[in-house]
Amino acid sequence: MSGPVFAARFAGKVLVVTGAAQGIGRAVALRAAAEGGKVLLVDRADFVAEVAAEAGDNAAAFNADLESWDGCDAAMRHAAQTFGGIDILINNVGGAIRMRPYAEFEPDQIDAEIRRSLMPTLYCCRAVLPHLATRGGGTIVNVSSNATRGIHRVPYSAAKGGINAITQSLAMELASQNIRVVATAPGGTEAPPRRIPRNAEGDSEAEKAWMSQVVDQVKQSAPMHRYGTIEEQAAPILFLASDEASYITGSILPVAGGDTG
Ligand SMILES: NC(=O)c1ccc[n+]([C@@H]2O[C@H](COP(=O)([O-])OP(=O)(O)OC[C@H]3O[C@@H](n4cnc5c(N)ncnc54)[C@H](O)[C@@H]3O)[C@@H](O)[C@H]2O)c1
Repeated sequence: MSGPVFAARFAGKVLVVTGAAQGIGRAVALRAAAEGGKVLLVDRADFVAEVAAEAGDNAAAFNADLESWDGCDAAMRHAAQTFGGIDILINNVGGAIRMRPYAEFEPDQIDAEIRRSLMPTLYCCRAVLPHLATRGGGTIVNVSSNATRGIHRVPYSAAKGGINAITQSLAMELASQNIRVVATAPGGTEAPPRRIPRNAEGDSEAEKAWMSQVVDQVKQSAPMHRYGTIEEQAAPILFLASDEASYITGSILPVAGGDTG
């Protein structure tokens, strides 16, 4: 693991991190474990078990398809059974499958973006609630995106707008129950080549060209004019998840070099 470790901010806490096999979720899970948390890493990719092994003795892996209610419910139950409860849920599963002008999207492709980037968080937020209630409170961190304003991925933008709505409305509903609900809105983030591609069918030449237009737009929109790193995304997620953010709820923190989405 790279990046600084400041303190055992998660000692005594149980975290569930979704989409933890690679990318931002992987970095969040490894650092949470390094800071003393007991972590369930959930992913539909089998190699999430390798990441859990890397995270150490206080981590475990669980395979589930979080685009289904049953997958989300099973993951939360497994975390509670394995570690005795849940304190923190980090809803990280998501990501634009295709980049294309909206006029080029087929109806089934629109549905697929909503299933990938809205439904896992909508279902997992609901599935975790009884477990947080048993603990007398807890924290949900949703990973949104600055792509709520951006080109060539309107269905994904709509899904992430939904994530922002879940965050604000659930925060209002649950504050009296000692449950905080917060989000980060990452901008473009550099990552090593993905073991699991966003689009299992592979990108066409046209999609590669549209992707390049998205990269230009993202860099141009951000005052810092650069992509962030995975560690620059993991750090604010874990700040919001920790008790250091105890007076913050309903907030969506842009982490996008100054692009506010
Ligand atoms: N990377 C970026 O540039 C960027 C920018 C803005 C927002 N985000 C958001 O950050 C989050 C993480 O992005 P990333 O680039 O690290 O993701 P990624 O695509 O690299 O990894 C996503 C992980 O989620 C898993 N996953 C996907 N669908 C699943 C399902 N149905 N059930 C269980 N697991 C599933 C994958 O197997 C994979 O391990 C996403 O919500 C994404 O929208 C990323």
